[in-house]
Amino acid sequence: MARFHDLEVTDIHKTIRDAVVVTLKPVNGAAEEFDFTQGQYLTFRQDFDGEELRRSYSICAGKDEGILQVGIKRVDGGAFSTWANEELKVGDTLQAMPPMGGFFTALDAANEKQYLGFAGGSGITPVLSILKTTLAQEPNSTFTLVYANKGVNTIMFREELEDLKNTYMGRFNVIHVLEADAQEIDLFTGLVTEEKCAQLFKTGWIDITSVDTAFICGPEPMMLGIASALRAHGLDDAQIKFELFASSQPGRAKKKAVSKDAASGANQATAAITLDGSTQTIQMPKDETILDAALAGNMDAPYACKAGVCSTCRCRVLEGEVEMVANHALEDYEVEKGYVLSCQSYPVTDNVVVDFDQ
Ligand SMILES: Cc1cc2nc3c(=O)[nH]c(=O)nc-3n(C[C@H](O)[C@H](O)[C@H](O)COP(=O)(O)OP(=O)(O)OC[C@H]3O[C@@H](n4cnc5c(N)ncnc54)[C@H](O)[C@@H]3O)c2cc1C
Ligand code: FES
Repeated sequence: MARFHDLEVTDIHKTIRDAVVVTLKPVNGAAEEFDFTQGQYLTFRQDFDGEELRRSYSICAGKDEGILQVGIKRVDGGAFSTWANEELKVGDTLQAMPPMGGFFTALDAANEKQYLGFAGGSGITPVLSILKTTLAQEPNSTFTLVYANKGVNTIMFREELEDLKNTYMGRFNVIHVLEADAQEIDLFTGLVTEEKCAQLFKTGWIDITSVDTAFICGPEPMMLGIASALRAHGLDDAQIKFELFASSQPGRAKKKAVSKDAASGANQATAAITLDGSTQTIQMPKDETILDAALAGNMDAPYACKAGVCSTCRCRVLEGEVEMVANHALEDYEVEKGYVLSCQSYPVTDNVVVDFDQ
């Protein structure tokens, strides 16, 4: 199965000085593969000095807009994001995997729901896709967005958000919270913390008692503070959806210390790995991840961040036990069903059976 497909850049423009919006068109008959759900992301691969980097970017287009679009904010010293902002141009070809991710809820035109979105900086991209799609497909639902930025000139999609307010008058509201720029209302200056959220709820800017679902995407500390405020005001975990772009948690050491038993075979496991309909049985050390074992076995297993953040490498454990050392992407119900992030999972039992196709 071809995992990466060619996408042609048909438009690229700045939304702020340090971020580009890139419109992409699948070529070679791959259009169907790129039919996405609001809130999903694409994983790109690109060679930099002979090394392949994979980076994920959320789709910022709404489902009904008929376009595939991502927003890429330049990270200081960041390889892919700087290249995309400075060198990528119309007519270039990018390679990406089909859309992935579970940062969405099912929509229904009959719904009369109140949605709440929190975005920080470039975390607006999936939330923008979600809010545009929701407002278009659920005519009786409302959406309130709290959007945190450093200052006015770092607000991505500012004009588009204003236009959406006019299009969906009375159903869409955006509260800009700016860290550095003073605003007329004091509450809208500073960071979006647990306390700030509590104040927004208390002062009536957000009627938290009527919120059905909240979406959060931004820096990890901000996300944790918001989630804590939402829980303290009555939302349960099923009502809070997260998308993390990068984790501030230190990752685990790349390899576990090799045990003295390694050479004797006590440290070895047998992994039966199914991918694209065929199964390969691989002997692997227990201090190697399932993903690395699959890649070492020349299996074209999907991955992007290798840090437990994106979920591109998700697989299901059918037999045996693995230890997942980090998980910033899978929800509890997925873990309960046996799904793991293969880039973070090490065999515990001598035999494991995993499936990337489920
Ligand atoms: C599911 C998912 C969706 C994403 N969607 C988007 C999106 O829509 N738009 C977008 O701009 N980015 C998005 N990201 C982040 C993106 O994938 C890259 O991590 C980011 O662009 C940096 O890549 P780089 O190659 O430029 O930097 P790198 O060369 O990987 O890193 C350079 C330096 O920046 C630090 N760094 C890495 N990522 C970040 C970050 N996000 N913020 C601050 N510092 C960082 C690194 O620790 C390193 O020190 C998403 C990530 C995930 C996992
Ligand atoms: S590759 Fe991103 S979570 Fe495993």
